[in-house]
Amino acid sequence: MPFLKTSSLVTIDRHIVEEGAMHPEATGELTRLLRDLTLALRIVAHDVRRAGLNDVLGLTDDVNSHGERVKRLDIHANDVIFRAMERGGHLCVMASEEVEDLMHIPQQYPKGKYVLVFDPLDGSSNIDVNVSIGTIFSVYKRLESERTDAGTLDDVLQPGYRQVVAGYAMYGSSTQLVYTSGNGVDVFTFDPTIGEFLLTFEKLRIPQRGKIYSVNSGNAHKWPQGIRDYVTHLLKPSADGLRPYSLRYVGTMVADIHRTLHYGGVFMYPQDATMPKGKLRLVYEVNPMAFIIEQAGGKASDGQGRVLDIVPTSLHQRVPCYMGSFDDVCEVEQFLVNGEQS
Ligand code: AHG
Ligand code: MN
Ligand code: MN
Repeated sequence: MPFLKTSSLVTIDRHIVEEGAMHPEATGELTRLLRDLTLALRIVAHDVRRAGLNDVLGLTDDVNSHGERVKRLDIHANDVIFRAMERGGHLCVMASEEVEDLMHIPQQYPKGKYVLVFDPLDGSSNIDVNVSIGTIFSVYKRLESERTDAGTLDDVLQPGYRQVVAGYAMYGSSTQLVYTSGNGVDVFTFDPTIGEFLLTFEKLRIPQRGKIYSVNSGNAHKWPQGIRDYVTHLLKPSADGLRPYSLRYVGTMVADIHRTLHYGGVFMYPQDATMPKGKLRLVYEVNPMAFIIEQAGGKASDGQGRVLDIVPTSLHQRVPCYMGSFDDVCEVEQFLVNGEQS
C-alpha cells in the first residue's frame, strides 16, 4: 500500500482539541460533542458507501414537514446522528430537517449547554443515482448556559452569527468534512483504511470572484426580473474575459457549495413566483453554509442583506440564498435592487 501523503498528520479529533486549547475557559464539552458527531458522520459515510448493497435506497411511506416523500437513507442518517448525540450530556436539544418538532434529549440522559441542528442527508434527489450527497450541521450555545433542563425553541431560533461551530460532510468521490469554529475553514478527508478524518486543506479561502454560477435554471420563468437579468449578464462574453460564466448545478447544496468554495462563483436558490422564500431552509441548511462561506472570505446574502443576521421565527423556515465569492454576491444583490426599480 502506498504511503499516506499529507503534509501533517492531524486528525479531526486532534484539530478540535488544539482549537479548544486556544480557549483556556473551555471545559472540553464542545470537544466531546464534536467527537460524538464525527463518529456519527463516519457511520453515515459508511452506510452511504454501502447504500446500493444494503437495502436502504428508495422511499418510505412518509411525507416530511415540507410535503416531500422521505427517502429511507434520510431517516437512517437522522437516527444515527440522534443516537450518537443523545447521551453525551453536551446537548440540551436537537433539531433536524426530518423532524417537525424539536428533538428532545431523552429524560434519562443529562442535558448540556449546546444545541445541535442538522440536515441529516442533503441532496435527497441524488441518493438513488449515486451522485454526491452530504450532511450539514451547526452548533449553538443555549441562551442560558447555566440551565440543566431541556432546551427550547428559542434556543434553536438564534441568528446565524451566534453559531459556535458549523460544517458539512460530503459523501463524494471521497468523504470530506469541512468545518469552521470561527477561525477559518479547514477540510478533512476521510481515510477509510484507518477510519480517521485527516486534515488535508487548512484555512481554505474562496476566490474573490469566480466564473461559475450554480442555480436551477428550470425555475427561470418564475424568477424575479433582477435574477433573470443577472444570469443574462453572466452569459454575455466580455472583453476583459471575466464573462461568460459556466453553469454547474449538482442539485445537492453541499456539493454545489463545496465546488463554489474551491473554484469561486455564486450558488443561488432565489425566491420565485411560487416559492416566495425560495426552497432552502435557514436554520439547518443556509446558516451553516453561510458561516462557512464567510469564514472562507466569501459572502452569503438573502438578496437584501446578510443571512447570518436574520433572526429565525420558525424551525423550518425557508430563505432565498445567494452565496459564494464576495464580488459575485455583491453583483447579484445589485441586480436584484435594479430589477426591483425597473
Ligand atoms: P434535501 O435533500 O435536504 O431536501 O435538500 C435538497 C436541496 C439542496 O440540497 C439542493 O440545493 C436543492 O434542494 C435542489 O433543489 P431543486 O431540485 O429544486 O433544484
Ligand atoms: Mn438539504
Ligand atoms: Mn435533507
